[in-house]
Amino acid sequence: MLAPDHTYQLLRNLTSPIVAITSERGGKENGLISDSAVRASIVPAVPRVSVYVHKFNLSHDLIFHTGRFVMHLLHTGQFDLIRQLGFQSGRDHDKLAGVPHRRGKLGAPILDDCYAHFECRVANVMDTGSSTLFLGDVVDVGFGKAAAPTGEVMTAAYFRAHMPAEWRQEYEAQLQAAQRVAASQSRDIRAVTWKELPPPPPP
Ligand SMILES: Cc1cc2nc3c(=O)[nH]c(=O)nc-3n(C[C@H](O)[C@H](O)[C@H](O)COP(=O)(O)O)c2cc1C
Repeated sequence: MLAPDHTYQLLRNLTSPIVAITSERGGKENGLISDSAVRASIVPAVPRVSVYVHKFNLSHDLIFHTGRFVMHLLHTGQFDLIRQLGFQSGRDHDKLAGVPHRRGKLGAPILDDCYAHFECRVANVMDTGSSTLFLGDVVDVGFGKAAAPTGEVMTAAYFRAHMPAEWRQEYEAQLQAAQRVAASQSRDIRAVTWKELPPPPPP
């Protein structure tokens, strides 16, 4: 077995593009950054995504208790948004203040500036101990301010390679703090039955 740090660096090849996940509950709007989003269906008529959200993030509870979120692919010009949504929690302040957005069909915020967005209704969840994997049915899709995608999608590798040098220490410190909390919870996996699962089809 490789040393944990080497294994983690290899696993970084499996990170997703950078996405902004927005949510809303009882009027409280929020957003966070993730690099753990993937396409979760091969069926064009059943478009699905999945994403891991840590339980210690505010967004987790907003999504878990409403069953809806919006996933935004970002473009390579959106470093400031990543810092705004991904380096601090929205528990104490409104992270979307000053970020132009509107409410989507399901009620969660859609950011005006993005590469593309997917409005999602949670179809199922899986508990990992420290996080929840949300499986989302895509109910609507749109692009950013332009009618079609512009620029390049912001990948996790591009973000790590090009983030402003003065942010790097803060980014690494936040990652290490999150890793410590996640390590203490990772083995405590609970069975969760998603509340809106339809009954199984008759045999
Ligand atoms: C590049 C990057 C990737 C991240 N990936 C995830 C992720 O996959 N899941 C997650 O829960 N948090 C992830 N985070 C951390 C959250 O974005 C961060 O903790 C945020 O402040 C949570 O905000 P909230 O408490 O307002 O929900 C990531 C942050 C960055 C900068």
